[in-house]
Amino acid sequence: MRVISTLLLLLLLITIGSSSLPTNPKQRVHVPCKRLVFYFHDIIYNGHNSKNATSTIVGAPSWGNKTILANQNHFGDLVVFDDPITLDNNLHSPPIGRAQGFYIYDKKDIFTSWLSFSFVFNSTHHKGTLNFAGADPLMNKTRDISVIGGTGEFFMARGVATISTDAFEGEVYFRLCVDINLYECCVFTCFGMYLRELR
Ligand SMILES: *[C@@H]1O[C@H](CO)[C@@H](O)[C@H](O)[C@H]1NC(C)=O
Ligand SMILES: *[C@@H]1O[C@H](CO)[C@@H](O)[C@H](O)[C@H]1NC(C)=O
Ligand SMILES: *[C@@H]1O[C@H](CO)[C@@H](O)[C@H](O)[C@H]1NC(C)=O
Ligand SMILES: *[C@@H]1O[C@H](CO)[C@@H](O)[C@H](O)[C@H]1NC(C)=O
Repeated sequence: MRVISTLLLLLLLITIGSSSLPTNPKQRVHVPCKRLVFYFHDIIYNGHNSKNATSTIVGAPSWGNKTILANQNHFGDLVVFDDPITLDNNLHSPPIGRAQGFYIYDKKDIFTSWLSFSFVFNSTHHKGTLNFAGADPLMNKTRDISVIGGTGEFFMARGVATISTDAFEGEVYFRLCVDINLYECCVFTCFGMYLRELR
């Protein structure tokens, strides 16, 4: 009897021990609950295109100006944008929403920026907003930024957006491909909250 209870205790300890072992985060598999891919198009004001421009420099370092992006990798420039979002990479496709926010160039010795913007959807495709923030090291083929929240159809959404530069034409036009993977989607748990928000 004594032996059996000792064995049971040992077994219990082993079970507790193994379950409290730290799980290796690298082994964890993250599966997105929703994936969306969009393009957005940025036409930077260059002194001659005020009609077509969708973004403009609003802040520049002392050695620059608000017409031309400053030298030293544009360090210190702050650009505000209201860009069309499309489902494919054609600037002239019907926009399904707007990408609105700003980016700043925040490093002198390499070409890199910091992004903060919302996707604002009000179409038959999507209704609601998704909010993004993060570092955008432009020289990398792909960059990951955070999806920090959402409203409407994307109520309480969170995830990661992988950004890649799909086209870059001098300093006047660029197109970004945004591959959004949401890891928190409010479907059932937040349904009540969503209904309340609609009201
Ligand atoms: C504005 O866009 C239209 C259509 O893409 C183009 O034909 C026109 O040349 C552009 N105008 C300027 C000032 O860039
Ligand atoms: C802005 O700076 C660029 C070069 O840095 C210069 O060519 C241009 O004339 C400047 N524009 C204004 C309006 O000062
Ligand atoms: C969305 O579009 C509808 C129909 O065009 C309009 O009535 C509504 O005010 C828009 N909502 C927002 C938040 O822009
Ligand atoms: C950018 O690329 C460099 C070198 O390939 C890599 O070390 C770095 O982690 C990347 N940064 C991001 C944010 O992806």
